[in-house]
Amino acid sequence: MATQPQPIDLYLDLLKKTLSFSLWPEPPTPIETFRDSSGLLQRIAVSAISRLLATRRLVLAKERHVDPVEKAEGKIWPGYAHTMIGLKRLDNLQFCIETVLREQIAGDVIETGAWRGGACIFMRAILAAHGITERKVYVADSFAGLPPPAPEMFPADAGDTSHAHRFLSISQESVAENFRNYGLLDDQVVFLEGWFEDTLPTAPMTQLAVIRLDGDMYGSTMVALENLYPKLSPGGFCIVDDYALKGCRQAVTDYRAKHELTSPLIEIDWSGAFWRKESPTA
Ligand SMILES: C[S@@+](CC[C@H](N)C(=O)[O-])C[C@H]1O[C@@H](n2cnc3c(N)ncnc32)[C@H](O)[C@@H]1O
Repeated sequence: MATQPQPIDLYLDLLKKTLSFSLWPEPPTPIETFRDSSGLLQRIAVSAISRLLATRRLVLAKERHVDPVEKAEGKIWPGYAHTMIGLKRLDNLQFCIETVLREQIAGDVIETGAWRGGACIFMRAILAAHGITERKVYVADSFAGLPPPAPEMFPADAGDTSHAHRFLSISQESVAENFRNYGLLDDQVVFLEGWFEDTLPTAPMTQLAVIRLDGDMYGSTMVALENLYPKLSPGGFCIVDDYALKGCRQAVTDYRAKHELTSPLIEIDWSGAFWRKESPTA
């Protein structure tokens, strides 16, 4: 007889589908959501028309053809999902956190680069589902989008235009509201608001069991690695969402080479990769 799925798995599976908006076809997206991809004049016109329509409780929206497979694989910028990382990377996050819980690897969990907060909400949900009350979820983000490149410090980021994408700028209040809507906002959730270079060096946690890097750029990835990897417990996991992006991959390669990290780097899907920190005796 087939075994019945456990309530924890049913809950977490449902969350993965809701956080990634996989249960529903993509509704038309308000044009303002993707406003930064158009020219200045068009943006001004759209903004004026949107304001006018809003007075009549109407919204200017655009039909988007979204391939459900691409959405499930985290290949699009979603209009409504609370995470853009796709189902395989959510599965990987669950695998890493449940492994450290099962094996009692000490430490909190963190994501650097939260956007609408979906992956962090999922981290909090995994802890809640397993009745874990002593570990915290750190949510590190500027809550104002990506930083302009600093090529004098990080030449690999020269010419990067990610900071211009207002789509990636989500306020802390909005992320907190998303946590609240899932019933998962409490004192186990700690927001680290600001640029990683300002918040991570003095971040209060002493030990981490899972670090999830999702800051896209070389600098954002390197600053997170330099400040967080030394706090990662042996047996803990380092997950890199943007390993497919040249700058991010270079940061990972440079950091691993500098610190002579030889633990195998495993690809999760077309974008993500992770490795497990070796214990000194391994
Ligand atoms: C691709 S989004 C993260 C997606 C998210 N993990 C999810 O589950 O959908 C990248 C995020 O990283 C943040 N970010 C990138 N570099 C940063 C930096 N140096 N300091 C603070 N926030 C940064 C941006 O504000 C943005 O919210």
